Amino acid sequence: MTEASATLILFGATGDLAHRMLFPSLYNLLADDLLPHDFLIIASGRTDMAQDAFRDDIDAALQKFLSADRYDADVAARLRAMIAYQPVEAGNADQFRALAKRLDGRLERGVSVYLSTPPSLFAPTAQCLAQAGLIGPATRIAMEKPIGKDLASSRDVNDAIGALFDESQIFRVDHYLGKETVQNLLALRFGNMLFEPLWNATAIDHVQITVGETVGLEGRVSYYDGVGALRDMVQNHMLQILSIIAMEPPARMDPTAVRDEKVKVLRSLRPMDGEAVKVHSVRGQYTPGAVGGQIVTGYADELGQPSTTETFVALKAHIDNWRWQGVPFYLRTGKRMPSRQSEIMIQFKPVRHSIFGRNGGLEPNTLIIRLQPEENIRLLIMTKRPGLDRQVQLEEVSLDVSLSNAFAGQRRRIAYERLLLDLLEGEQTLFVRRDEVEAQWAWIDSIIEGWRNANMKPAPYASGNWGPSSAIALIERDGASWHD
Ligand code: BG6
Repeated sequence: MTEASATLILFGATGDLAHRMLFPSLYNLLADDLLPHDFLIIASGRTDMAQDAFRDDIDAALQKFLSADRYDADVAARLRAMIAYQPVEAGNADQFRALAKRLDGRLERGVSVYLSTPPSLFAPTAQCLAQAGLIGPATRIAMEKPIGKDLASSRDVNDAIGALFDESQIFRVDHYLGKETVQNLLALRFGNMLFEPLWNATAIDHVQITVGETVGLEGRVSYYDGVGALRDMVQNHMLQILSIIAMEPPARMDPTAVRDEKVKVLRSLRPMDGEAVKVHSVRGQYTPGAVGGQIVTGYADELGQPSTTETFVALKAHIDNWRWQGVPFYLRTGKRMPSRQSEIMIQFKPVRHSIFGRNGGLEPNTLIIRLQPEENIRLLIMTKRPGLDRQVQLEEVSLDVSLSNAFAGQRRRIAYERLLLDLLEGEQTLFVRRDEVEAQWAWIDSIIEGWRNANMKPAPYASGNWGPSSAIALIERDGASWHD
C-alpha cells in the first residue's frame, strides 16, 4: 500500500449515489479520523452551481441519509470545509484547466478520481484529465458499474481507460465487495477448519444464491430498461458472490492471489446456448400486485410502454472444474419480490448410509448465510428428538449465529466506506480486475445470445412473488426447492 491520496475528485457529485452513499461514507471516515490530514474533495458535476449551494446540498443529504445519532454538526462542518465544487462537462477543456488549477501542488501527494457518472463519460473524462495533465503515477481511478453492456463494449471501456492508467491504478467498483457480509464469506471459508474439507462436489449437492429486492424501477427507467436483471445484478454482484463461494483458497489475502482465484472460477462457468437457456434460465417481468401490503403497478405501467426487459432472472449455472463437477449453482434475483432478502444456501448431500432406518426423519445438512437485511449464519443439523421411541427420531435444529448480536454495539459500515478508504490507500483486493469483468461478460453474453436465438421473452409475474412459476420448476425438476 502506498500513501493515501490527499485529494479525491468526484465526478457525478450531484448524483444520487454521491448523495446517498459517497458523501455519508466520507463523513463517516472523517468522523473516525480516517481521512488524510488536509484532505480535499473536488466535487464536480455538469450543473453550474455555487460552491456554498453545493455544500448546503451535501449537508442536507448527510442529515437525510445518516442516522440521527450519527449526524454531528461539527463533523459535517469539517467535511463541508473540505469540499470544493467545480462544474465540469466532459470535453470542456477550460473547465478541466480550472479543475487542474485547484490541484496545484497536490498531484504528487496522490489523487483518487471517482467516476460516478454514466459509463459513456468514463473514457472522455479520463481523456480530459490526461489533457489537463492530471494523470501521474500517483493518480488512481475508480469506476462504478456498468463497465460496458457486453464483452465487446466492456473491452472498449477497459482499453480506453487502460491506455491512460496502469491496471494497478484502476479500481472497478462492485459495491457488494464492500459489504461486510460478503467479506465475511472469506472469513467463514478460510478462517475455519470446519467447512473447507467439505466444500466440494463430494459433500455438496447444490448451492443457491438469492438476491431479492422489494423495490421496482425507482425512477431509474432510462438506465434500467434494455439492461435488465441479468446485466444489472448477475453480471456483477451475483457472479462476485459466486466466485468467492466457489474459488480455491488463495495463498494470501492480497489483490493478486484473491483475484487470480476468482477469475479461474468465472472462466470455468459453462456457457449457455439457445437450447441450454430454455432449461437453465428463466426471465420474468413484474406485473401489478402487492408487496408488503402495498398495491404496486407493473413494470410496463411504470415505464409507460410494453418492454422485453427482464426484472427477474433465475439460472442454473455449472462450474466446469474439478471441485464443482455436477454441483449446480442456482441463482435468482428480481425486483418486486415478497421480501428484501440476500442469502446463500449450501445444500449438503445426505449421509452415505442411514443407521436410523427409513422413517427416522434424517435430512441432509444445510448452511444458510444471510447477507441482507440481517446478517446471520445458520447451520441446520440433525439431533435426536427427546423421547423413548424404540426407533430414534431425528429432528433438524439450527446452530444460529446472528452477527449483529455477536458484534452488538459495533456500527455496521456502509459498503462505500470500505471501498473509498481502500481506493485512497491503493488497496485493490476488493475491486474487480479487468480479466474478471471480461470473464463475467463472456458468460452473460452467452445467455443473452441464447435468449435471442431461442426468442425467449420475460414471463409475467405478479409483484410480491418470487418470479414466474417456471422459476420454481427450474429447481424442482432437479428434486430441490428454493429456500424462501
Ligand atoms: C445496484 C443495482 O448495483 O445494486 C440496483 O443497479 C440494485 O438495481 C442495487 O437495486 C442493490 O444493491 P443493495 O446494496 O441495495 O443490495
